[in-house]
Amino acid sequence: MDFISFVIEYLPFISQGMLTTLQLSIISFLMGLILGAFLLALTLSPLRPVARAYIEPIRGTPLLVQLFVLYFGLPSIGIKLDAFTASILALGLNSGAYQAEIFRSAVKGIPDVQILSAESLGFTQYQTFRYVILPQALRISIPSLVNEFVTVIKESSLAAVIGIVELTRRGQYVAAYTYRAFEAYLIVAFLYFVLCYVFSHGSRVLERKVRIPGYT
Ligand code: ARG
Repeated sequence: MDFISFVIEYLPFISQGMLTTLQLSIISFLMGLILGAFLLALTLSPLRPVARAYIEPIRGTPLLVQLFVLYFGLPSIGIKLDAFTASILALGLNSGAYQAEIFRSAVKGIPDVQILSAESLGFTQYQTFRYVILPQALRISIPSLVNEFVTVIKESSLAAVIGIVELTRRGQYVAAYTYRAFEAYLIVAFLYFVLCYVFSHGSRVLERKVRIPGYT
């Protein structure tokens, strides 16, 4: 079978995995977003060491190992997660740590003088956070958040290892069934690329819309 016929034959089967890949990525990314915002609040409070104690180990250990801890490790202390839940949790808990760092650096990017001005205008700490820091920090974070989402899409391929039938796993099936790993994985790679490209370029439009004059 030539490459074109191979693609026509197996592309539909493999591309169905994009749906599961997207499901995994979107749910985990949103979980990470909430966790990231929460960790940011901790970071800006006296409980900062608690946030660091979470963020550092998560960023300092491989996501694959974290996934194994949740899926293979937790059952030995009586917590049994199904593969999908374990994958969402691993990806979401992991992404939260990275998103917290994204927010933290965005907050650092806001000139101090604005916070001082807010203070001298009589803003409370909460008002300063809500009306001066937050709206700008969110906008500054958008490019990095999109980047993070694209990373989550790619990292979600690790779920294949514990049996989630997403994009990569479907590629494995086709490779095993046809003995044509090269073609199968090229299709898988191409589909990841399409997903990532669509999101990172779609976001450019959004970035231009919410651009803050004076920031690059
Ligand atoms: N592959 C890296 C790891 O295993 C990246 C983790 C995920 N990165 C991210 N920005 N969410 O640790």
